[in-house]
Amino acid sequence: MYVSEDPVFRQKEVLFPDYIPDHLPHREKEIKAVSSMINSALKNHSQIANIFIYGPPRTGKTASVKFIFRKLKEGANAFTVYINCFRVNTRMGALYTIIFEFIRKVKPTRRIPSRRGVAYDELYDLLVSELKKTKAFPIICFDEIDHLLPRGSEVLYDLSRLKEEAIPALLIMVTNDQFVFMNVDPRIKSSLRPVEEIPYRAYTLEEMREIIRMRIEFAFQKGVVDDEAVEYLAEVATEIGR
Ligand SMILES: Nc1ncnc2c1ncn2[C@@H]1O[C@H](COP(=O)(O)OP(=O)(O)OP(=O)(O)O)[C@@H](O)[C@H]1O
Ligand SMILES: [Mg+2]
Repeated sequence: MYVSEDPVFRQKEVLFPDYIPDHLPHREKEIKAVSSMINSALKNHSQIANIFIYGPPRTGKTASVKFIFRKLKEGANAFTVYINCFRVNTRMGALYTIIFEFIRKVKPTRRIPSRRGVAYDELYDLLVSELKKTKAFPIICFDEIDHLLPRGSEVLYDLSRLKEEAIPALLIMVTNDQFVFMNVDPRIKSSLRPVEEIPYRAYTLEEMREIIRMRIEFAFQKGVVDDEAVEYLAEVATEIGR
């Protein structure tokens, strides 16, 4: 049977906001740095540094973390939690997300606790006891962390306190604002240490051109988007990242 090809799209999914490509050009160095920090933390629980990623909008911060999480082998040893603090901006919401992901990925047979009528402390104790029992290592990304601070910042302190219980955990904090922790309670700030900083710089026009060209090549049939449009998109996108 003859199946007619879509005249416009090759792979429409490539244009969806959640799409993460198999390769992120010009972010290899940053991805390698974050991955190796995660790997060394997984190998040596006594040397865990949290990670702070900052940089202008549209520079691949979210894409990199999701890319790294996708490659990571999850299971009984380690599990990842991605929290978009724009959506989840309270300590209760963050803690609940962590427990939810723990159950989904590490202990699917366990019943998910109800959100209603449960106290924060009760939920925290549940997380501590489950992590102790299973020895699963949570790697938690707080993306757009500026939206969590200061309202939900206590959860960062509580998660840093896990090490007092000999429970390993690694936090990845992502934001546009390099100085986001400036007004945060010093007690919370110091509990997060040590922190490794990974700055993301804006793409140059040339880099942006390549990134956009690649995306268009995957998404559209040949000839649908012309070079002039690519050039225009690259210029606009570079401007946003500045
Ligand atoms: N190096 C890259 N290669 C391919 N696509 C990329 C690259 N960097 C970014 N992108 C794409 O550009 C878009 C914006 O990237 P992303 O959302 O990761 O930026 P961000 O730094 O998290 O921005 P913000 O600070 O606004 O949250 C996404 O669609 C992402 O897949
Ligand atoms: Mg982002």
